[in-house]
Amino acid sequence: MQQIESLIRAVPDFPKPGVVFRDITPLLADAGGFARCIDALAEPWQGSGVQAVCGIESRGFIFGAALAQKLHAGFVPLRKPGKLPPPVVHIDYELEYGVDRLEARNDALHANERVLIVDDVLATGGTMAAARALVERLGAKLVGASVVIELAALQGRARWRDDGAMLQALLR
Ligand code: PRP
Ligand code: ADE
Repeated sequence: MQQIESLIRAVPDFPKPGVVFRDITPLLADAGGFARCIDALAEPWQGSGVQAVCGIESRGFIFGAALAQKLHAGFVPLRKPGKLPPPVVHIDYELEYGVDRLEARNDALHANERVLIVDDVLATGGTMAAARALVERLGAKLVGASVVIELAALQGRARWRDDGAMLQALLR
């Protein structure tokens, strides 16, 4: 885990003053580090019957797609507005540094399909809450969520309802 942590760069005052941006690109560029990261993300979900991994645009796509392969599950993108053809469902949410919207195809998931949500960073938890609301609106069964980095000081976990669905963070 220490090796994975050492491959994530903290960039002060990006994208605006006061934010310490966690840059995961050095981790992605390191073949061994990226592979170990995906192995560690997959570990708690082996045998849990995950059928679909929902990755959050855009950095969640990278980890989510690799994790879907590892778990022998399908991949469903939860996208920023205007990227998916209609019909879509959407949820608006607030970011640490702005306002945004997540969309999914209205037929992206089956009723009771077992879903894992994946993203790179949990900060305020607004994005994850929106992703969860989308998955639930589509009638799927949320098994849990995985993030590479939890910025614990921002208390995003407080917005996570712990009703049997686990929120896994590799690094805090
Ligand atoms: C970042 C990050 C998470 C989200 C976390 O995404 O990848 O999705 O912010 O923030 P929150 O917990 O405060 O909601 P961003 O919207 O910057 O998009 P990107 O992945 O396309 O850079
Ligand atoms: N998303 C929200 N806050 C972030 C941060 N500090 N670093 C990287 N991604 C983020």
